[in-house]
Amino acid sequence: MLDKFRFLTAGESHGKCLTAIIEGIPAGFEINPDFINNELKRRQGGYGRGGRMKIETDTIEITSGVRFGKTLGSPVTLVIQNKDFENWRKIMSTTPEDFTDEKSFTKFRPGHADFSGSVKYNQTDLRNILERSSARKTAIEVAVGAVAKQILAQFGITCSSKILQIGNGKTEEEFHSEIDKAKDAGDTLGGKFEVIFENLPIGLGSYVHWDRKLDGKIAQAVMSIPAVKSVSIGNHHAYKMSGSEFHDQMYLDENGKIVRKTNNAGGIEGGMTNGEPVIVTAVMKPIPTLRKPLKTVDMKDMTETEAHFERSDTCAVEACSVVAENRIACVLVDEFLMKFGGDSLTEIKNRL
Ligand SMILES: Cc1cc2nc3c(=O)[nH]c(=O)nc-3n(C[C@H](O)[C@H](O)[C@H](O)COP(=O)(O)O)c2cc1C
Repeated sequence: MLDKFRFLTAGESHGKCLTAIIEGIPAGFEINPDFINNELKRRQGGYGRGGRMKIETDTIEITSGVRFGKTLGSPVTLVIQNKDFENWRKIMSTTPEDFTDEKSFTKFRPGHADFSGSVKYNQTDLRNILERSSARKTAIEVAVGAVAKQILAQFGITCSSKILQIGNGKTEEEFHSEIDKAKDAGDTLGGKFEVIFENLPIGLGSYVHWDRKLDGKIAQAVMSIPAVKSVSIGNHHAYKMSGSEFHDQMYLDENGKIVRKTNNAGGIEGGMTNGEPVIVTAVMKPIPTLRKPLKTVDMKDMTETEAHFERSDTCAVEACSVVAENRIACVLVDEFLMKFGGDSLTEIKNRL
């Protein structure tokens, strides 16, 4: 769906590494690996994360497309080594001689890709589904987004996010106590968060085709994040507001510039940025792996049983908001490059 800033990622959760190749970055942009590492650290943090995050300290390696800190215009390759791979070398081996069924499992985990994935890809070991469907791959997606963010930052475009609700909690203290309660009960939680991008130029996206609307593109990107179940742009109470309450009326300031007193549209009208901050809200469902396991079926002998449990987060809403920031950054940089595009930073600056 991205036209100018395109990327693919590869890698299994316990495989050797995660990789991304990004195509379409013009020459001359400064890419700082420390910034990418800091975004990776933010994704690993947050109250309620599980044991895996303590094993991995994600670090980026840039293996192509950048020389002496600046992009060359050629594809940029990013790699994150999975530190846990040392313990999984044999189990995740790519060669048939190493075959083992250690760590294989056949008990579907409700809320995961296990059931449909095993039917779709004709697999009898659910490990073959878990490894790629896992949210581990969001680490490399964050790394790609951290490149996108650095490009946007060179034009003054900034981004932030915050958690709005976890369980019934609406303050940070309540978030923690809700998570503690869930953890003690062997249960999990989801929540709601908001991402804001500021200083975007007017006219990113378009109304001319269904697949060029910026709100649609952002919704797809955020909805693609594992466990995200709803996305909205602007005031998510629109369904209960009247037109006169909801729409952002226009006025002229003392310099004759058009201004708004509200931003219920969340910065997008007609599928295009309108110069106001872009505001995206999303809901993450509760983590589907529970220490107090859910009822399920074992595909081995078709008996009722309890779901397979593997080290897991209690709540990952904070991490999810970081992933969302970075996924949206990719959509915005794509639109930005389509509008102002060229082969170098200098060319884009002249057009802007
Ligand atoms: C940052 C992040 C961390 C996650 N951590 C876990 C986890 O530790 N355990 C788990 O069962 N699901 C976790 N999930 C959610 C699952 O990956 C997701 O629910 C599952 O792959 C099914 O996809 P779906 O919910 O989009 O249908 C996480 C999601 C995100 C975004």
